[in-house]
Amino acid sequence: MSPSRPIRAADAPALVEAAGLLAAGRLVAFPTETVYGLGADATNGEAVAGIYAAKERPSFNPLIAHVADLAAALRLGIFNDDALALAGAFWPGPLTLVVPAAPGCPVSSLARAGLDSVGLRVPDHPVALALLRAFGRPVAAPSANRSGKVSPTVAGHVADDLGERVGMILDGGATKVGVESTIVSCLDGEPRILRPGGVAREEIERVLGRALPHREASGDTLLAPGMMASHYAPRARVRLDARQAQPGEAILDFGAPMPGADAAPRRNLSATGDLTEAAANLFAHLRALDETGASCIAVATVPQHGLGEAINDRLKRAAAPRG
Ligand code: TXA
Ligand code: MG
Repeated sequence: MSPSRPIRAADAPALVEAAGLLAAGRLVAFPTETVYGLGADATNGEAVAGIYAAKERPSFNPLIAHVADLAAALRLGIFNDDALALAGAFWPGPLTLVVPAAPGCPVSSLARAGLDSVGLRVPDHPVALALLRAFGRPVAAPSANRSGKVSPTVAGHVADDLGERVGMILDGGATKVGVESTIVSCLDGEPRILRPGGVAREEIERVLGRALPHREASGDTLLAPGMMASHYAPRARVRLDARQAQPGEAILDFGAPMPGADAAPRRNLSATGDLTEAAANLFAHLRALDETGASCIAVATVPQHGLGEAINDRLKRAAAPRG
């Protein structure tokens, strides 16, 4: 094992060691069903500071505290009826609930960026759950990439981005969902979708029995300070809604391939137009096309329904002017 690529198969001894590293205040990257997370003991402010340092992330970004089950989440946050219904329907799974922090909530104020609320999630991945059970405390974890880069969906991406900055990278193969969790705030008043993600808006509205306002309608960026416009940035420029590739462009298709040069680097999010498959492929395909050195990636139109809302949100950010 090279110290700069600390990837380990997630067997029982590795999990014990990983829990020990977390307890010692070190960073452990681990797979979830959405993307790989860069984990630290959420109750240890210094350990959490290590996340921001490794990611070179602006420190006003609150982090999600990951726990093994609803019982653990109920010790950290105050759940209203909507939050309980959503947790019951989608946990373990790609849903983060922002709720008021419980009195004496042990999640460090740094992980909460000083807010009175806390972002909580029970991930649906055997390695993540085994790590959380072995550790026994909440694990703060953003996606395991440097700030502004696309999120990692395989262990090798984490090693490429963060390498020697992590104590261990637990390898759980490719992530299944491929986009981050949907974030719903259940503070006072109507629940709000702060970030579209792995659970589609339609599924959330079905469980709640009513439609939710769209984020754009609120205009309140401080509620989800992580939602910076240029968050998901490959090196290459990204051109959306392309019908045809220009010379020199790499191509990201959805469904039928778009016209373009034979030699153009090309990936298809889903040849059959399946949005779940497209979400799972999104970040890995963006990375692969970026690594060809093409100056621009032409991206086909992706429909906006179901997981398309999350896919288009990430694509729009990837295409936004760099700040
Ligand atoms: O799928 C995921 O959610 C992945 C995996 C690792 O779990 N994690 C992830 O974390 O995407 P991150 O740090 O990249 O995004 C977390 C988002 C940020 O946009 C942050 O602003 C929001 O969650 N967030 C966390 N706690 C919050 C709070 N108390 N209030 C508002 N937003 C919060
Ligand atoms: Mg992220």
